[in-house]
Amino acid sequence: MNSSRALFSPALTANISRAACKGIYSSTATAAGLRASCAAIRPFNIPSQRNFSVSHRAQLEFFPPPKNLPNIKITPPSWPHPDFTEKQLKDIEVAHRDVRTASDWVAYNSVRFLRWCTDVVTGYRHDPNKPYKMSERKWLVRFIFLETVAGVPGMVGGMLRHYHSLRRMKRDNGWIETLLEDAYNERMHLLTFLKMAQPGWFMKFMILGAQGVFSNAFFLAYLVSPKTCHRFVGYLEEEATKTYSYAIEDLESGKLPAWENLEAPDIAIKYWNMPEGHQSMKDLLYYIRADEAKHREIHHTLGNLNQKEDPNPFVSEYKDPSQPHPGKGIEHIKSTGWERKDVI
Ligand SMILES: [Fe+2]
Ligand SMILES: [Fe+2]
Repeated sequence: MNSSRALFSPALTANISRAACKGIYSSTATAAGLRASCAAIRPFNIPSQRNFSVSHRAQLEFFPPPKNLPNIKITPPSWPHPDFTEKQLKDIEVAHRDVRTASDWVAYNSVRFLRWCTDVVTGYRHDPNKPYKMSERKWLVRFIFLETVAGVPGMVGGMLRHYHSLRRMKRDNGWIETLLEDAYNERMHLLTFLKMAQPGWFMKFMILGAQGVFSNAFFLAYLVSPKTCHRFVGYLEEEATKTYSYAIEDLESGKLPAWENLEAPDIAIKYWNMPEGHQSMKDLLYYIRADEAKHREIHHTLGNLNQKEDPNPFVSEYKDPSQPHPGKGIEHIKSTGWERKDVI
């Protein structure tokens, strides 16, 4: 997939960079972070050490061609992705679960604060009344930064529940696998976007800092209140679903011309099992948005449960399977999560 070249020709990248920098510097909301993030996404043809470059080197570094090993043929994904139909992908909607408890309030406002920080770092703006607009490059910066953070909660939550099960010598009732699968899925989002762009040193530094702070904070918070943490991730995924919906909107209204005829990278086509004729960048964004909506459903549901006793409803067998119930797919997806009384 020759996506890098197709995505950003030298002329286009220079224009994108100029437009983006101009937009940022002329804005009254300009902050040091925004200036820095602009420097971080300078295209590869402008000589700079603070480069968010797009180059073939990314593919060489991150995705070496499969080696011809003497015994191993292929390493398939540990959690194969469930199939989604076109209708299911299109039916995903932006949604918000209202704040009902003090714990919800803490979770929701933490997400709002984090969202503000991320907007500043990735130079995100989605206000049609301002001259500033998102470009393909700006979207990629945002996707990559967000996905490096999104893979943390599932892994930390899964790890802590694993330790808890060992320490207390108790069953976990199926939560660990779903949390690890969630983290795996987020990492696949990241690996897919890294096929299209490679972060420069400034971006890598921001990612390092964000991971250091967020992983430790989430680890401690999960020890104190796992319920609040699942609600927090539910709200975070509401934002992720919104972000991908806006990106799809931009692409469909012709604001992202470089993505209009772009094919999805091979890694994505294989992982999501994208059918023939539905393997474009636009299709990819629909698949990822559906994943984010699924995470939103999972974490809002887990946030409704008794953390110590309840089984994981997403992997349980139901007494009456003919009734809609949570599962791995999105055929009965509930945007604001399942209430405890409906599933346990
Ligand atoms: Fe994601
Ligand atoms: Fe997500």
